[in-house]
Amino acid sequence: MASTPNRSTPPPFDPSVPGLAARHVAREAVATLLGPARGLALEDALAQAARGGRLEPGEAALARAIATASFRRLGFIQAALAARLRDGLPENRPHLLALLVTGAAQILDLAVADHAAVDLSVRLAKADPQLQHLAPLVNAVLRRIVRERDAIRAEETDPLAHNTPDWLARRWRAAYGEAAARAIAAAHLEGAAVDLTLARDPEIWAERLGGVHLDLGSVRLVEAREAVADLPGYAEGAWWVQDAAAALPVRLLAPEAGERVADLCAAPGGKTAQIAAAGAAVTAIDRSAARLERLGRNLERLGLTAEVVTTDALALPEDTPFDAVLLDAPCSATGTLRRHPDVAWTKSETDVFRLVGLQRRLLDKAARLTRPGGRLVYCTCSLEPEEGSGQIADFLNRHPDFERIAITPDRVAGHAELIDPSGDLRTLPSHLAGGTGRTGGLDGFFASLLRRKD
Ligand SMILES: C[S@@+](CC[C@H](N)C(=O)[O-])C[C@H]1O[C@@H](n2cnc3c(N)ncnc32)[C@H](O)[C@@H]1O
Repeated sequence: MASTPNRSTPPPFDPSVPGLAARHVAREAVATLLGPARGLALEDALAQAARGGRLEPGEAALARAIATASFRRLGFIQAALAARLRDGLPENRPHLLALLVTGAAQILDLAVADHAAVDLSVRLAKADPQLQHLAPLVNAVLRRIVRERDAIRAEETDPLAHNTPDWLARRWRAAYGEAAARAIAAAHLEGAAVDLTLARDPEIWAERLGGVHLDLGSVRLVEAREAVADLPGYAEGAWWVQDAAAALPVRLLAPEAGERVADLCAAPGGKTAQIAAAGAAVTAIDRSAARLERLGRNLERLGLTAEVVTTDALALPEDTPFDAVLLDAPCSATGTLRRHPDVAWTKSETDVFRLVGLQRRLLDKAARLTRPGGRLVYCTCSLEPEEGSGQIADFLNRHPDFERIAITPDRVAGHAELIDPSGDLRTLPSHLAGGTGRTGGLDGFFASLLRRKD
């Protein structure tokens, strides 16, 4: 299909048509990420797209669901569209491509009425001066997807080939082997349940919320339908949302009452809350003031306290080392694709290599902030070995004054499969109950527990 220049101002939408605002926002956000602004997170692109128009909570949730579904099966949806477009997928026309992708994602993946998916996509095309003339094409292609839905779905037999960008599929095959790479890609299609961390009484809250108390410690809400803020216990600060794997690094650090603990990349504060809930005196550091504001609001709701410092962790004074240090380093986040499938398509291998350098400098800093005899936990929510096991192998070579404390299965409720051959934590999206359905699965986390020798 011929290319035309991108336009910069999104077309207006008619707010009186039910469901149109959600489709507009989803389409704009997907177009942004498929276009030149590739580094943006979907959450930010959605907020940007909604700016100016007031989106009801239900519409905002629908916009997020459509955009997320679009990225979860992006490869497969694009292939299905390409096979039904005479000139193939539109090139350099992110708004047209996003219109088709979000329309197809609704038809193939979401429980929305087919006529709403098709008609509202056509309306958006008609409202856009640059796409008006293509409204009949949008209509025809999406109607065909409706008619051929069962056959299209039956073609999706290999999520690693269909829905994983080549650079990631290649890396996961090399790191984990063919079978595990396939299981990871399959787990991504399942999405993720809502996991909660509780300061106390997980059994009681699991029952009250209709959730499952996982042996790893978290409570998993498989059927959560309402917004988390409407669930029992939210307002009184009984729990916070945190993937079951994301809660493990602090369990390994095992902060104790009265200890001084530094959380070097703390915002939005899930791990800070765990450390504070254990009774330790935690200093929460992050270079993002906006994200630390969220951390402050979260801790306030939970009735927990921390010393909050807005700074680049690399600039921290080193005169009073801590009993324990947590470095939840900035990373490519490829372990979070069940929740954030956009990451697979907006990040690249260059991001991995760039982040590895920053992680290395932060690790060296974290080492200097750990007192002799103190503990250091390094973790990332990445599946890439350079951001995990490779980083720690390099670190131990550079720092003979540190040793690894190998994680034993009893520290992770007997789940030996979560521990790599070196004794570090290595969770995969396909772990836990086979990783299938929303009852299974974990974010892909790496964590290493290190000790500074006396
Ligand atoms: C993976 S997130 C942390 C998540 C957090 N630990 C939690 O559990 O909620 C990484 C954080 O590192 C922060 N960050 C990145 N580079 C930093 C630096 N040089 N110094 C301090 N914070 C940094 C980012 O702003 C981001 O909030």
